[in-house]
Amino acid sequence: MDTHHIPVLCDKVVDFLNPKPEGVYIDGTVGLGGHSAAILEISAPSGRLIGIDLDGEALTIAENRLHTFGERASLINGNFAEMDVLLARHSVHAVDGILLDLGVSSLQLDTPHRGFSFNHTGPLDMRMNLGQGLDRAQQAPLTAMQVVNGSTMEDLVDIFRRYGEERFAKRIADRVVRARQQALITTTTQFAEIVKKAVPQKKFKIHPATRVFQALRIHVNAELENLVSGLDVAISLLKPGRCLCVITFHSLEDRIVKRCFQTCARMCICPPKTPICICEHKPSVEIVTKRPVLPGGDETQQNPRARSAKLRVVRKL
Ligand SMILES: C[S@@+](CC[C@H](N)C(=O)[O-])C[C@H]1O[C@@H](n2cnc3c(N)ncnc32)[C@H](O)[C@@H]1O
Repeated sequence: MDTHHIPVLCDKVVDFLNPKPEGVYIDGTVGLGGHSAAILEISAPSGRLIGIDLDGEALTIAENRLHTFGERASLINGNFAEMDVLLARHSVHAVDGILLDLGVSSLQLDTPHRGFSFNHTGPLDMRMNLGQGLDRAQQAPLTAMQVVNGSTMEDLVDIFRRYGEERFAKRIADRVVRARQQALITTTTQFAEIVKKAVPQKKFKIHPATRVFQALRIHVNAELENLVSGLDVAISLLKPGRCLCVITFHSLEDRIVKRCFQTCARMCICPPKTPICICEHKPSVEIVTKRPVLPGGDETQQNPRARSAKLRVVRKL
């Protein structure tokens, strides 16, 4: 399996984080460790990096990649939305820079048994954290297969619209409900075929199942909810003058990041027509990137995954 993952906008991230030997940095989405390795190299000889990821399989690869940095690198299997709790266990309460590089890794997309891609036949799974739902509180792990076979028609329409911005959500949900009455929908390619048949036949710029695959993945992993909580927690952990960098890959993520940064940077968050300010809100950050930073032509040519990437950065006040 090719575990090579080219870190997106890596030079830019490193410029903003400006890692120093005395610093402690958090990579909240360590993946295969590309950005983490760059941060560790630049913060030599004593900068520390704590890498977090939901995906235990990715962490095993990142561990191999980062072992040359010895005790300067620590990896945690967990959710960046709970970063404060995870770091407190390592007695870390404030840090010198944080990166969130959102979405799925190439490892997840290219591993058929993870079920993220319509290009490979595999079980409809899509959990980033394979231990998800294995605690006693939940009856069974929430997988894409459960969502597709167990949700009501209305819920499917809502998931496809909300998280995929899919204009044919109703037609697709209808086709899914009819198909599952014949037989359980269990594989990625079986599901992709059902979607393909549900939408009008025309020349697609992208695979017709792209948006519903994105929708299912976001729903199964509660990605947007984690992002909302993760941004607040990350900002609260930064030392003054230090940066949070967030790389997004689609408009739903980017909108959340943009709005959160704008709110945190504002003097007042009272409703627009309030005559005098009663919110007592104080800005906690300044926005460093007035517009998102995009990859250049060279990078997107070398790494097509970078094409939709947007980097936004705030600095703690
Ligand atoms: C785009 S990849 C990161 C790639 C990484 N920057 C690199 O250079 O290899 C995104 C990673 O974030 C992880 N992830 C997504 N949501 C997460 C969350 N809420 N908490 C922790 N990890 C998460 C995924 O499992 C995936 O490995």
